Amino acid sequence: MTTMQAIEKTVRKTSGSISLLDLKPPVADQTAEIIEGLTQTPRKISPKYFYDHKGSTLFDAITELEEYYLTRTEMGIMAKYAKDIADTIGQHKIIIEPGSGSAEKIRLLLPDLKPKCYVPIEISSDYMLTVAQNIREAFPELNMLCVKADYTHQLPTKRQLPEGEKVAFFPGSTIGNFTPDQAKAFLRSVKAMVDHSGGLLIGVDLKKSVPTIESAYNDKQGVTAEFNKNMLTHVNRLTGSNFEVSNWAHLAEYDHDEGCINMHLVSRQTQKVNLSNHSFEFAHNDTIHTESCYKFSLQDCERLFNGAGFSVVNYWTDVNGLFAIIYCQAR
Ligand code: AVI
Repeated sequence: MTTMQAIEKTVRKTSGSISLLDLKPPVADQTAEIIEGLTQTPRKISPKYFYDHKGSTLFDAITELEEYYLTRTEMGIMAKYAKDIADTIGQHKIIIEPGSGSAEKIRLLLPDLKPKCYVPIEISSDYMLTVAQNIREAFPELNMLCVKADYTHQLPTKRQLPEGEKVAFFPGSTIGNFTPDQAKAFLRSVKAMVDHSGGLLIGVDLKKSVPTIESAYNDKQGVTAEFNKNMLTHVNRLTGSNFEVSNWAHLAEYDHDEGCINMHLVSRQTQKVNLSNHSFEFAHNDTIHTESCYKFSLQDCERLFNGAGFSVVNYWTDVNGLFAIIYCQAR
């Protein structure tokens, strides 16, 4: 069952509306999920457990770091090429953003894109509605449909979205945090949502010198290390486990074969951790995998997008070729 609720109706003729579509994301059994990951070889905890309130604040701090070139570079490309991007995509489309968060990036494109409707998708409707109200202050005529959903499991169907040509917006190289199989499956579900007339505007972090990539995930101030270790505090709070955070070290290194940064937590000593009715033993230097961040060549992108039913139309990069924003058309 889904509910469509008119949060706000147009008052003046010139003002847009904000509505909520609740896809009722199922409540995950987080304890069972974390136990399952820690029982596997190699041990892992999903990167989604980075993001409690402190983790989100730390991530925001990461995006401001000197070494973390991704956010600043992507936003620079958007600001510089906003008009060109809009000319390529066309105006008055339905722009759908899975994992919209603070929706900072779409704001750079809205003045030129002039969408018929902006559709953010987030698991937390309160935060999403607050962000929508803020966007409305700057873009009072914009219609917004806020979709409450876990976009990694469910996207709205074509019929649940307003009529018109649909373009998915997926910035930040978040696609790099999926495994290659997950990325393909996700992009196929995006293709089903936008259908044949639709498109995809996506941000990807490009392959480059390994020291540049590794330092983005090993900043001098240790913010990324704190972000990584904060996951254990979050897991302790969610599950009642007793991870001793100071017994763990941050590790982020580039895997040349896979073309990704792998982030781990490394046990600094022999230790035992209790979680629900399980007990996990860790030897000195044992690791827990917490995240992979894939980097892409333009050929990697072409292969990935083609495999999901999209064809690359145009792309924009910065002068140093660090990051790319790519527009693809569904076939
Ligand atoms: C959210 N994502 C695109 C970030 C990245 O760079 O892959 C997550 C991150 N992890 C550590 N630093 C940033």
